[in-house]
Amino acid sequence: MILSLKAQRVPPGAGGGPKLYIVMVGLPARGKSTIATKLKENLVHNSVRTRIFNNGELRRKMIHENTSFPDFFAPKNKEGAALREKIALTNMQAAKRFINKDGQVAILDATNVTAERRGRIRALLNDHPMLFIECINDDEDILSASILRKIDLHEFGHLTQEEAIQSFRQRIFYYQSMYAPLDKEGSFIRLDSLNNRILDEELGSDIPYHDQIRDFLVTDTVKNLYLIRHGETYFNLENRIGGDSPLTPKGAEQAQALARHFKNKKIPLIFTSKHMRTIQTAEPIKALQKESTIIPLREFNEIDSGICECLSYEEIRTTLPHVYAERKEDKYNYVYPGGEGYVTMQERIHRGIKKALYLSNPSDYIMIIGHRAVNRMILSHFLFRRTEDVPYIYIPQDKFYHISATQSRKSFQLRSFK
Ligand code: F6P
Repeated sequence: MILSLKAQRVPPGAGGGPKLYIVMVGLPARGKSTIATKLKENLVHNSVRTRIFNNGELRRKMIHENTSFPDFFAPKNKEGAALREKIALTNMQAAKRFINKDGQVAILDATNVTAERRGRIRALLNDHPMLFIECINDDEDILSASILRKIDLHEFGHLTQEEAIQSFRQRIFYYQSMYAPLDKEGSFIRLDSLNNRILDEELGSDIPYHDQIRDFLVTDTVKNLYLIRHGETYFNLENRIGGDSPLTPKGAEQAQALARHFKNKKIPLIFTSKHMRTIQTAEPIKALQKESTIIPLREFNEIDSGICECLSYEEIRTTLPHVYAERKEDKYNYVYPGGEGYVTMQERIHRGIKKALYLSNPSDYIMIIGHRAVNRMILSHFLFRRTEDVPYIYIPQDKFYHISATQSRKSFQLRSFK
């Protein structure tokens, strides 16, 4: 793989600096627009003049009749196909004008799932380097949540939620039937868009901004993550672990204080575990927000302590001394009989973080209400800690962590809320 950031040929009168076309590829609801938007933000932040050319938005502007019905996207619908090609061409021409004026990066944001469409793009936009970014994500939970967000658009307003989901799924089905994954079509990055993982890549020699773009694609960026532990529970009072205990009056008051603290921040999604104590902590916060949804994810459930569930630490020490001793010896790697250990939670916590980040886009504020062990693992995802220290990270119930992790800035603050 040869890389160089050598300056590109610039037509007379055009703005200087290297120029690049980025072409998004992928089925609907695979995170293409989210990635395009965040990539643009990142490039603009680094003083690269970037613009997105989105076919869906242009369709809604150019065609006044409702075009959200699935058969508009059916491969057999000649009229629909011709209109979609016209929209694509209009955006390609606009991208070319932008690049040949003072633009530096033009992002074509559309499905671009057929080789014919991509061929037309390459033929027309042959004056500067081009990078395809193909987004792949087949996680069913994420797909369902992304579809729910898509059908929020005005063009689905005349349908019930069920009909709108059905309609969007049919649209995906049509695109699936035409989809030809990228195949030797110049420079490309194939991305697992949920896990920020590069699945495959091929680069020609001159892809400007490549290092910056690649690094951005694999970085978990989160502008503001509020990581909160649930309020006090009856089990906490007795030092009992696991279970599904509700909040005490003090715990409920902690939840109210959190709600007041976050009242003026816009938090559209609050992620919790499936346990009562995290949901009860989230409810007052949601109540003081204008628009907010609680999303319980099993990935954020507290460590399963197997045969020790609902016991107090003292009961474990006296009735199961071998468990107590072995865990003390190597807390990170110890797995409770019939349950989990920090080490075995890692995969699901990682998945939960990915889901929360993915679903929260494009909001700048994410909130996760978790548990002691879960929050330690979430913190260690962003903050480097030796594994042996992770099970001892301080996770109080009267403070929260404010985490900010972007390509250029990382910060962690432990803050009070009253
Ligand atoms: O607050 C109790 C708790 O969340 C338990 O449910 C869990 O087993 C424990 O904390 C995790 O902390 P540690 O790993 O230090 O025992």
